[in-house]
Amino acid sequence: MAIRLGDEAPNFTADTTEGSIEFHKFLGDGWGVLFSHPKDFTPVCTTELGRVAALKAEFDKRNCKVIGLSVDPLKDHEGWSKDIEETQGHALNFPLIADPDRKVAELYDMIHPNELETFTVRSVFIIGPDKKVKLSITYPASTGRNFDEILRVIDSLQLTANHQVATPVDWRDGDDVIIVPTLSDEEAKERFPGGWETVKPYLRVTKQPS
Ligand code: BEZ
Repeated sequence: MAIRLGDEAPNFTADTTEGSIEFHKFLGDGWGVLFSHPKDFTPVCTTELGRVAALKAEFDKRNCKVIGLSVDPLKDHEGWSKDIEETQGHALNFPLIADPDRKVAELYDMIHPNELETFTVRSVFIIGPDKKVKLSITYPASTGRNFDEILRVIDSLQLTANHQVATPVDWRDGDDVIIVPTLSDEEAKERFPGGWETVKPYLRVTKQPS
């Protein structure tokens, strides 16, 4: 069954390039991103894994673990890792799950047979410290993901988890935010003493809380 936002991220054990893991233990108390790749030794996936390795410090700053998955065996992952380092200039610095029996891919509904019969599509799940799924996006194999966008969403999720705000279109960390419509003006006065601009009664814009 498809995994929906707010569902608990299913737990699993799996072999990875960094040894065997139990997913929930691996995530610990922080945030996590789980993302799938159609196949080892494929061009788009190679660029994506290099990019995530380059961005690892950004994920660390956000207390967020990253973990990839491909349905090929560990031996292939190890050979492919060398190509990733050679061609992308960044060695894998996070685990890549080997899922040859498609156990995890099926658990997370990453195989969409009408799109790709046996390989996974490019799924992304962001998981919160409560192990609940906060975002899921599915890309086709032909489109490499934008991991800056994933970081942007993590910034929004972490901000909105702690403050009564939502983030507007194309928001980036530091930009103004929107006071959630469920908060009355009276309540908003307490939470946002610096005030806000009322564009419409339902659209109140304020500085990003720190
Ligand atoms: C790729 O990663 O380049 C790719 C993988 C499967 C199908 C198409 C492209």
